[in-house]
Amino acid sequence: MDIRKATMDDVDDMQQLIQHYADQGLMLPRTHRSLYEHLQCFTVAVSGQRVVGCAGLHILWRDLAEIRSLAVHPMCQGQGIGRKLVERLTAEAEALGIAQVLSLTYQTVFFEKLGFRVVEKHTLPHKVWKDCIYCKKFNHCDETAMIYYTHVAQACQTRQAESV
Ligand SMILES: CC(C)(COP(=O)(O)OP(=O)(O)OC[C@H]1O[C@@H](n2cnc3c(N)ncnc32)[C@H](O)[C@@H]1OP(=O)(O)O)[C@@H](O)C(=O)NCCC(=O)NCCS
Repeated sequence: MDIRKATMDDVDDMQQLIQHYADQGLMLPRTHRSLYEHLQCFTVAVSGQRVVGCAGLHILWRDLAEIRSLAVHPMCQGQGIGRKLVERLTAEAEALGIAQVLSLTYQTVFFEKLGFRVVEKHTLPHKVWKDCIYCKKFNHCDETAMIYYTHVAQACQTRQAESV
């Protein structure tokens, strides 16, 4: 199983995978157009020729990126693929100098195991909600907001503590 950046050839599989969970209300659907536009954000897990997992890292602001459209094929869950995808994206955020990675999710135990911590939604900046207007649950969002602090955040805190 290979974890790599997505290419155009992956888009059909990614769209189907995301749609499978969107139909269950677990994530927002993605059109082909949206996947083409945001392809550079996406990492995929590939087994043989098939995409068995995908996830996107969307930059929201200087210090904040969000994991979106995280999905692992139902037949491939519980094999560490979700973990590998998320770890790849948090490393990518860190390499870009981004301090915090957000997930809005129902999968709190999964994200806790990967070092994410629950935060109050009202503490998040308004730009986080920009795309939520496309969600059916906009007025009654029941997802949990969770944040992962990269080494960039820890380095900032250390610098602040040293300057006091
Ligand atoms: C959530 C999801 C991405 C997890 O992917 P996965 O490949 O099955 O997860 P992993 O095998 O990497 O699991 C990593 C750890 O989390 C745990 N875990 C995974 N899913 C879990 C769940 N739903 N509840 C509790 N623990 C879970 C695993 O047991 C494992 O723990 P361990 O390290 O102690 O062994 C996958 O189940 C999925 O695609 N779900 C449907 C779509 C969805 O909800 N996406 C999230 C949108 S934010």
